Amino acid sequence: MLRLIKSSIVVVLCLISLTGTAQNALVIPPALTGTNFNLNVQTGSKVFYTGTTTPTYGINGAFLSPTIIVNKGDVVTLNVINGLPVSTTMHWHGLHVAAENDGGPHQIILPGTTWSPTFEILNDAATFWYHPHGDAKTELHVGKGLAGMFIVHDPAELALGLPTTYGVDDFPLIVQSKSFDDLQQFSIADFMDTAIMVNGTIDPFLNAPAQVIRLRIVNGSSMRSFNFGFSNNMSFSQVATEAGIINAPNAMTRILISPGERTEILVDLSAMNGQSLQLMNYGSTIPTGVYGSSTVGVWPDTIVDYQYNDLNGADFELLTINVGAPIIGAITTIPSTLIPYVPIPAVNATFDRRFVLDTIGMLPGETPNRAAGPFGINNTTFDMDVINHSVALNTTETWTLINKTLIAHPFHIHDISFNILEKSGVAPPAFEQGWKDVVLVMPGDSAKFIAKFTTFADPMTPYMYHCHLLHHEDDGMMGSFIVFDPNAAIPEETTALNLNVYPNPSTGYWNISGLTKAVNIQLTNTLGQVVYTAKVEQTDGVFTLPNQDLASGIYTLTIRGLQTNQTFQVQK
Ligand code: C2O
Ligand code: CU
Ligand code: CU
Repeated sequence: MLRLIKSSIVVVLCLISLTGTAQNALVIPPALTGTNFNLNVQTGSKVFYTGTTTPTYGINGAFLSPTIIVNKGDVVTLNVINGLPVSTTMHWHGLHVAAENDGGPHQIILPGTTWSPTFEILNDAATFWYHPHGDAKTELHVGKGLAGMFIVHDPAELALGLPTTYGVDDFPLIVQSKSFDDLQQFSIADFMDTAIMVNGTIDPFLNAPAQVIRLRIVNGSSMRSFNFGFSNNMSFSQVATEAGIINAPNAMTRILISPGERTEILVDLSAMNGQSLQLMNYGSTIPTGVYGSSTVGVWPDTIVDYQYNDLNGADFELLTINVGAPIIGAITTIPSTLIPYVPIPAVNATFDRRFVLDTIGMLPGETPNRAAGPFGINNTTFDMDVINHSVALNTTETWTLINKTLIAHPFHIHDISFNILEKSGVAPPAFEQGWKDVVLVMPGDSAKFIAKFTTFADPMTPYMYHCHLLHHEDDGMMGSFIVFDPNAAIPEETTALNLNVYPNPSTGYWNISGLTKAVNIQLTNTLGQVVYTAKVEQTDGVFTLPNQDLASGIYTLTIRGLQTNQTFQVQK
């Protein structure tokens, strides 16, 4: 019964977004510049549909968040002032910052308190974003309006002569689908996202000058991917991946952007003064298995009511662009080359980690749904008190992501940007060659990226990796890693466990006793290569580490958890 009611609501709302004639001026979020930022997180309300008021969250306003614009090399302080009645978090998605400044689930901001990280902007020019990140509340807080753009400029990018005047020829587009319940309040997790918003505006239009404009696109949706293109099928030029400007403009007519991903495109409107065009989502050509395509999963592994959501597999308008007179000094050409892209050489990688994205049963006897979840990574779900991986500072690693489910997962990692080496075993398409921090892993497929973990070692504070479908993230499709400095002394207060390793030397196995908390175990050889890792979650106090497959010699055994960080020399 409930489902039937929802489906009828869906139809009504979809008519609005599918046939709407763009009546609302696109909101351009206010820009914040400088080096000291006050972000007042607050409750508010907004009328999205005549006759009903929807409670919202916003930063420095009722809904959505200002755009932060900084320069590489700036040292910034971000005062996140939590005026909500509940705790929240604020993550700087894509920025390379210390784990304690990252705003993950461990940096909780209690109601009425302020969190003020200070850090240097180390990233090159690109489009980043910021949003809450924790306590299984990411989808709720982002959905209610906490998401903002974070633009970084740098001298090399500014010298290219690309459009850079915010709101004039350089436009932020935070594209989101939202779910409303029967009372037109935001609802979470019913997979019935029926309203499309750009910068919080439903049915938006933008008056743009007849010249080259830059669109910075963030997919801030909980679940939905968009296949962007223009109604007249004109080609546009991709100039950036998520974390950097690319080699040369990449002429395209469609670009698929999944949740968490960003892109920047240049659109040449020079010859279009007086005309209109639509930025569209071409959902009919989104590949099967991606949320937003016509089909995800195979019965009975399907998402409830997915086929009743008229947005799925549909082509629909996102934004009308009305082209008017160019501005004085308009940019009318697109440079032929941009910033040299020097990917990390694959041969530099000294360690590969495997991440299997699969369902995980939460209750005994439960058969999880391979399209709807719940999902985990490497057969486990997120635990605040567990470090899933330990990465040695300055190592270059490859991460292999294997999707065993029937839905595509956008895999995101904090701390670093990466280069995709392979998707489905071959080099990625051109639009994914560049610096990235999200990679969409298709159902039954795999992806591999390479990254170097530099600069921030902290044995106690983890970074996250997770699926950026916010519903999956909140369900626990997330893990953590620390970056540790193998040469640093171990802080004394962290050696809380009374650990013992025996027999040593030994052939066959070593026992580790005294394990009363979840830890990560890592074995490195004398060349510093990691030869073994394991996570010990539940234990009767003793973990047996087999060593039959190891060469004879001396190894360093590192045992890390939130309460411990100890090393032993062991010998086979
Ligand atoms: Cu955009 Cu870990 O998140
Ligand atoms: Cu992030
Ligand atoms: Cu996922």
